[in-house]
Amino acid sequence: MSLRHFLHLSDVGGEGIAHILNEAMERKERRAGWPRGKPDADKPLEGHVLAMIFERNSTRTRLSFDMAMRQLGGTTIVIDGGSSQLGRGETIADTARVVSRYVDAIMVRTDHHDKAELLAEHSDVPVINGLTDLSHPCQLLADMQTVIERRAKLAGSRWAWLGDGNNVCNSVIEAASLMHFGLAVACPNGFEPDVAMCAMASTRDDIYFTDNPREAIEGAEVVLTDTWISMGQEDGEYRNEAFAPFQVNEALMAFAAPGATFLHCLPAHRGEEVTDAVIDGPQSAVWDEAENRLHAQKALLLWALGKLD
Ligand code: CP
Ligand code: NVA
Repeated sequence: MSLRHFLHLSDVGGEGIAHILNEAMERKERRAGWPRGKPDADKPLEGHVLAMIFERNSTRTRLSFDMAMRQLGGTTIVIDGGSSQLGRGETIADTARVVSRYVDAIMVRTDHHDKAELLAEHSDVPVINGLTDLSHPCQLLADMQTVIERRAKLAGSRWAWLGDGNNVCNSVIEAASLMHFGLAVACPNGFEPDVAMCAMASTRDDIYFTDNPREAIEGAEVVLTDTWISMGQEDGEYRNEAFAPFQVNEALMAFAAPGATFLHCLPAHRGEEVTDAVIDGPQSAVWDEAENRLHAQKALLLWALGKLD
């Protein structure tokens, strides 16, 4: 069997994603009421170790992968850019060759997507993309799980993305292409998503792009946004003016479908891309979304390690 890298959602495909989401929801259900501090009853990854390489900050990704491995009976090792030899210039290829001699899988969060590709190319174990400048596929597994929980189905549902055409936005487009849900992406001019990701959606007339946030959100059942300044863009204060009309506030949410679900990958910049009233309001599913990172990644790890077909 070839290595099951997960750099893009398309590495799993639509059917594979559906299978992973089912497994995630089943495991979540089985875990309900389970005593804290105990691994899952079956411990399918007992003895397995996941190395987690971080060249960017993280709270959710780090904790959810760590807890996912622990609950599945495995363990993790964190390698951060600052204290490892990566920080002193050891190449990604050599790092991949060495790390994959020790561990069973690698999760990487890094700045340039090419680095994740290079890591996978030179690794003897599966490599999982835990966010790059191009995409954040793990986030979308959790987002899709949250939408299924709230709205019962993905196919045919209508999503709207408002704000920066960033890594998370790119993965939303990929998810819509693979899982057949409708998507309107509204970004200011000059902040559009990746051209190749958009090309994936070019055959679909229910995925479209606009610079008009009101047009995008009209009738949407799922509304998503993210920070206007992603990691590595910290000199981007000038962006706030261009993005102001894209703020998800109560006035804009009023144009979404009644009972629309609000999602945000977090961390949120309250008062910028989203107001307190929306993120803390009844339509917000952000805490379930964050929790679902754990459940979705448990299923993803099982898939990557050949324990789930
Ligand atoms: N959403 C997400 O990936 O959060 P972290 O940056 O905290 O990992
Ligand atoms: N777009 C954000 C996502 C953080 C999880 C970033 O890259 O910083």
